[in-house]
Amino acid sequence: MLEREIARAVDILRAGGLVAFPTETVYGLGADARNPDAVGKIFAAKGRPQTHPVIVHLGQAAQLDAWAVEISAGARRLAERFWPGPLTLILRRGPGVPDAVTGGQDTVGLRVPAHPVAQALLKAFGGGIAAPSANRFGRLSPTTAQHVEAELDGAVDLILDGGACPVGIESTIVDCSSERPTLLRPGHVTREALEETLGMTVEAPGPGSPRAPGRLPAHYAPATPLALVDSSALVGLPTRTSATERVAVLARSDPPPDAPHLVWVKAPEDPAGFARELYAHLRQLDRAGCSVILVEKPPPAPEWDAVLDRLTRAAAGSPPQAA
Ligand code: TXA
Ligand code: MG
Repeated sequence: MLEREIARAVDILRAGGLVAFPTETVYGLGADARNPDAVGKIFAAKGRPQTHPVIVHLGQAAQLDAWAVEISAGARRLAERFWPGPLTLILRRGPGVPDAVTGGQDTVGLRVPAHPVAQALLKAFGGGIAAPSANRFGRLSPTTAQHVEAELDGAVDLILDGGACPVGIESTIVDCSSERPTLLRPGHVTREALEETLGMTVEAPGPGSPRAPGRLPAHYAPATPLALVDSSALVGLPTRTSATERVAVLARSDPPPDAPHLVWVKAPEDPAGFARELYAHLRQLDRAGCSVILVEKPPPAPEWDAVLDRLTRAAAGSPPQAA
């Protein structure tokens, strides 16, 4: 069954079409990365500005040199340790990488995903697959095939269903195109793990770093206003909110009794579990007809950095909330 689906997906990619596929992070909206017309269709389907670069997915690290040049020893060490896996490397683009992929920049983002369906697709296709997250521009990334359908129904030729994504948030992005490696987007591969592998510090992005839309302050947002609140603000919430106003809550604790106007989702208490469920939870709460989504702030520890990053961006798109 899967073999037939993969063969169909490869035919579609070769013909310049779009295939959504699961990765361990989130679902991607894929096109043949060497075909500028096909890559152009991604932008149209997402409603995304043409100047935003997309990540090229490869089947194995050995393909690196077909896409990038001047690859540092550090970048190779990162590839060796974390690929296949949820890490994207920004490197100097090689000859023949279409502008449609790089957004006209002199760098290219590369990643070898670990998900078995992504691996099967990449092996069968042979080449690079350009793929951003398979959502409309600025919205939550999809972590199930059903999310992709809800976002992009009709705009994609085939959706490969690989179930729920095990990591649940987008890959860590490290810019290795200049002397000092820079963390452009935190993720499951932590800054500490990167620094340990490189034997040097990894900087936070500065004003000179390349623009990445994942770093726009308001990104990854549900339609319902979202506010990050301290754990203490959730105590007494049932009485502080009006019984006529429905309020959505994403917290690591159990819901209070007798608060039918609160739509309360209890999230896993560990950072990996919280991240895995995060976008599905936010989609669920977004559909609950509430005036606001209150999200309990994660603990101030480095292993929560990636979750805090996504939540902060989701909240940045919302007007300030009282609660
Ligand atoms: O986990 C992921 O990375 C998922 C899966 C599908 O692989 N993909 C993903 O793609 O999140 P997207 O396009 O939604 O986010 C990729 C980010 C964007 O912010 C983009 O600007 C940045 O990577 N990016 C890609 N190529 C770049 C480049 N050459 N220089 C700087 N940023 C780049
Ligand atoms: Mg995205």
